[in-house]
Amino acid sequence: MTASTSDAPLVHAVNVSKSFHGNEVLKGIDMDVATGEVVVLLGPSGSGKTTFLRCINQLETIDGGRIWVDGDLMGYDDRGGTLHRLTDKRIAAQRRDIGMCFQRFNLFPHKTVLENVVEAPVQVKGMKRKAAEARAMELLQQVGLGDKPSAYPAQLSGGQQQRVAIARALAMDPKLMLFDEPTSALDPELVGEVLKVMRDLATRGMTMIVVTHEMGFAREVADRVVFMDAGVVVEEGPPSEVIGNPKHHRTRAFLSRMRQEEQAHAEAVVASVTGNTEALADAPGDGGDDGARDTAG
Ligand SMILES: Nc1ncnc2c1ncn2[C@@H]1O[C@H](COP(=O)(O)OP(=O)(O)OP(=O)(O)O)[C@@H](O)[C@H]1O
Ligand SMILES: [Mg+2]
Repeated sequence: MTASTSDAPLVHAVNVSKSFHGNEVLKGIDMDVATGEVVVLLGPSGSGKTTFLRCINQLETIDGGRIWVDGDLMGYDDRGGTLHRLTDKRIAAQRRDIGMCFQRFNLFPHKTVLENVVEAPVQVKGMKRKAAEARAMELLQQVGLGDKPSAYPAQLSGGQQQRVAIARALAMDPKLMLFDEPTSALDPELVGEVLKVMRDLATRGMTMIVVTHEMGFAREVADRVVFMDAGVVVEEGPPSEVIGNPKHHRTRAFLSRMRQEEQAHAEAVVASVTGNTEALADAPGDGGDDGARDTAG
């Protein structure tokens, strides 16, 4: 969880800009991430979080600025100050070192869990199948799915599928993991098991950039929180400052909205555990809008 090793940042992004059809969605983002550091990226919908992650691993080209990952200029060759786009093959090679985990897990439905995890190391890295399977089994143990190698994705819960997706990304032995709202498509009761795996990964020293609305995770696991709004970094610092004592009014407004959502989320967990939506009327901090609630069942 704590930054370690070399002085040069693992991710060094300088003045990154990106437009879609004249709409500038990244307006000069600077961001350094140290090796072993966990950065949580917060910001309202449309602020450019996903776009920034996609620029880091070159799923999007950037219009201005530069991004280095482990000293490699992403997507371009710098020849005397002029940037030349790398070949697709070289970009694919750069991307191999970056694991990405999205809201949707996109596992191969017709392959078992083990086959899903083994696929990329064998096909892309040319790893021997036996070695890849042994490594995949270790990773499945790590994400708490050591008993599921033969299951098919459809036989797993959303939380289990997301943990397979994390194991699949880790199988490529990435230097950096990018998470884009990995728990936001999950039922509330499945969020914790995925966050636990991510917390464990952080403890093992993985460098991570995590877009999430899980404020508890941000507070406990992030070394640094970066708050973005409208394509710029508004505020950044340790979670105790950015979340605990935000300086900027836009950060405060966002966090207050998040707190309301967290409350609703907590209430949904209570309802899913008890199966009793009437209990919600008594939940602490409830706005007292009992009359508006559906108390059927
Ligand atoms: N491929 C695209 N083509 C056109 N516009 C895009 C594209 N991708 C993103 N945008 C726009 O860029 C802006 C930033 O989008 P982005 O997905 O990065 O935001 P975000 O912070 O991840 O939001 P959310 O919290 O909703 O995921 C939005 O206005 C979005 O509509
Ligand atoms: Mg997004």
